[in-house]
Amino acid sequence: MAGNFDIELSHCGKRYGAVTVLDDVSLQVRRGEFITVLGPSGCGKTTTLRVIGGFIIPDSGHVSIRGREVTRLPPYRRNIGVVFQNYALWPHMTVAEILGFGLRIRKLGREEIARRVDRALDMVQLTGLKDRYPRELSGGQQQRVAMARALAIDPEVIILDEPLSNLDRRLREELRIELKRLQRSLGVTMLFVTHDQEEALSMSDQVVVMQSGRIQQIADPRTVYERPANRFVAGFLGSANFLPGELVENAGEGRARIRLGNGAVVGAYAPSVKPAGEKVTVIIRPEWLVLERQGDQPPANQLAGTVGDVIYEGSAVRYGIKLNHDPETSVFLQERSNVDVLKPGDKVRINVANAVIATD
Ligand SMILES: Nc1ncnc2c1ncn2[C@@H]1O[C@H](COP(=O)(O)OP(=O)(O)OP(=O)(O)O)[C@@H](O)[C@H]1O
Ligand SMILES: [Mg+2]
Repeated sequence: MAGNFDIELSHCGKRYGAVTVLDDVSLQVRRGEFITVLGPSGCGKTTTLRVIGGFIIPDSGHVSIRGREVTRLPPYRRNIGVVFQNYALWPHMTVAEILGFGLRIRKLGREEIARRVDRALDMVQLTGLKDRYPRELSGGQQQRVAMARALAIDPEVIILDEPLSNLDRRLREELRIELKRLQRSLGVTMLFVTHDQEEALSMSDQVVVMQSGRIQQIADPRTVYERPANRFVAGFLGSANFLPGELVENAGEGRARIRLGNGAVVGAYAPSVKPAGEKVTVIIRPEWLVLERQGDQPPANQLAGTVGDVIYEGSAVRYGIKLNHDPETSVFLQERSNVDVLKPGDKVRINVANAVIATD
């Protein structure tokens, strides 16, 4: 049954021969939300977007838009604006013709089409370029035309497949802000595909992390970053140390205490309750580790170690620290470069400000 959502995928599956490309994919997007689908190449992002757009019919599961089941409807019978990765602007049409095309398919009158084309071009600040052909536009302008085409049909939702990845970094950052502003001011629901974690974290209400056709986690940006569900999510979104440990006790409310190696006990977020004594892996972001420069007896929450690699990165210095309790294991962390830079062999203590127990 369709719920109260603008986009709803319910248990969608898709196979090509023996290869499962979507494996039980479910997600729900509320009116006005910006949701990002993030994951490595080949994980099924474009397939997910195409299932929503109606370009691929899933083998199993259902798709609804604004509570209406559309699983088997063709794209033009869904009120969805689509921005393709390569923009797909027809080279023999002018900007006005490109924008008008989808409106003619929807059988709108000539005047209404002209009005909508002007309005959409206005929204993306391309007024005046109506009669140009795509080859007469810059990459950033082509991107805006693709966006305007999606807006012109007055869509219930807009889906975008890596719309910014062909652009250079500066323009990408500019358009990211513009796109987000437009989305907010129109209150339109957007599903955005990217493999750029910064884009995903900075723009989204919800982030969907996919791997091999499966959703690994859906949550708001802070939660996927600070409470990654598993090792894959932690490693794909940002970087992380993975350390073996043993559960000492559950402290309630999602907290636990973990012993790392021989002695150092640290607090960690525990997504599920596990028995004391259970072996676990903890995820520790480099910025959750804070160097203490003197002393050698580590109290609670601290690890003792010896500086190994020192990599100067301009505003920051990245250290690899060999842990005293297990010289086979190093952790890496960063420090601003405006303090003394440590040398290999220096003894340090590391304060563990935060840790998360991995579910796999
Ligand atoms: N028509 C097809 N026939 C067979 N396999 C396909 C077909 N279309 C996609 N695939 C496979 O499905 C998987 C997912 O493809 P998809 O295009 O969804 O990946 P993606 O996450 O968008 O990757 P990228 O970041 O590279 O764009 C890939 O392994 C791809 O090779
Ligand atoms: Mg793709």
